[in-house]
Amino acid sequence: MKVQIRAYVPLITTILLFSDCSTIKNTAGGGVPSLKETYKNDFLIGAALGARYIQRSDLRADSLIKRQFNAATPENVMKAGIIHPGWNTYRFELADQLVEYGRQNNIRINAHTLIWHNQLPGFLRNMEDADSVRAFFESHISTVASRYDGKVYSWDVVNEALNEDGTLRNSIFLQKLGPAYVTEAFRLAGKAAPHTELYYNDYGIENPRKRAGAVALVKKIQAAGIRIDGIGIQGHWQLGKVPYKNIEESIRVFSGLGIRVMITELDLSVLPEHAADPYPHGLPDSVQNNLAREYETLFRLFLQYRKQISRVTFWGVEDGHSWLNDWPVKGRTNYPLLFDRNDVPKKAFYSVIDAGKK
Ligand code: G3I
Repeated sequence: MKVQIRAYVPLITTILLFSDCSTIKNTAGGGVPSLKETYKNDFLIGAALGARYIQRSDLRADSLIKRQFNAATPENVMKAGIIHPGWNTYRFELADQLVEYGRQNNIRINAHTLIWHNQLPGFLRNMEDADSVRAFFESHISTVASRYDGKVYSWDVVNEALNEDGTLRNSIFLQKLGPAYVTEAFRLAGKAAPHTELYYNDYGIENPRKRAGAVALVKKIQAAGIRIDGIGIQGHWQLGKVPYKNIEESIRVFSGLGIRVMITELDLSVLPEHAADPYPHGLPDSVQNNLAREYETLFRLFLQYRKQISRVTFWGVEDGHSWLNDWPVKGRTNYPLLFDRNDVPKKAFYSVIDAGKK
């Protein structure tokens, strides 16, 4: 019996190789380089995964994800409004599936996010009573963070708590719990998830005023003797306006606080903010080339700081399902990522690979 099986091994291998190439032809399959391999000695390469990827309803994208990424962030399914829709109701199914997907495929999960002013459960939105808000805050953090402790790698504990001028955003948490809520969230998360890294995550914190606010937050948490392991610069930037100098300065300043720095939600919008829908049928070569050039410049910068940066995560897998098709104007056709709507690597993908080959 043993001999017979061995005789079939080359045939089976050939069939598997062939079927792999034929099903994911022209996508990130055979022959196409891998981001996670190219950057394996530098930092993790992640993608935000929407429910369609977590439920594996798209097999072509599934093989791309496994080949290209070694980190993932749930785009929505761990947000409070989805995972904790009623006072005593939790819906863990999709989050559990994502965690299992990560375990099976060596993909590190960054859980996102415990405390955020957006995508909150309906019952919380108009809550007047501060004690009830505190009860939600405490039970939400301890229930959700402890469930995934040791199963996810990290949590974005607090997301987007700052205004552009570095002051605290006027969220329900600030209103009802006061400014200490950020430190308190980290204390509770540390207690519930002692084996999980804990991060603060925000957009625009590369800009000096907001950066100063983020530094103050981190220092306050540290001064209270509470653990914070890293800070995420989201990286939602616009083609032609990427703030390279501010990004570089922020990586230096944040890592100087003794914490990890990550680029957590990278995408480059190619559409002017309020234009109608300039490229509904495809991206002109000139813009495609600019996108490739800017991505390459960014990754060369990230590589200079490879000792400080632990992960670079794209906010999505391919252009067709990027949130930027619906923001700030609904229903436009944007092209912010490295893979096109057919999962085919774009010129920008190859420029990121080239940057990584050094
Ligand atoms: O699930 C409902 C569905 O039932 C309904 O039919 C449909 C109708 O519009 O909406 C669906 O919910 C949408 C949800 O995404 C899931 O697709 C919401 O409308 C939509 O607002 C929501 O957008 C998400 C957004 O956060 C909410 O603020 C985006 O997918 C997600 O990419 C985005 O991610 C955020 C990060 O968490 C934090 N940083 C900024 C980043 C981009 O905004």
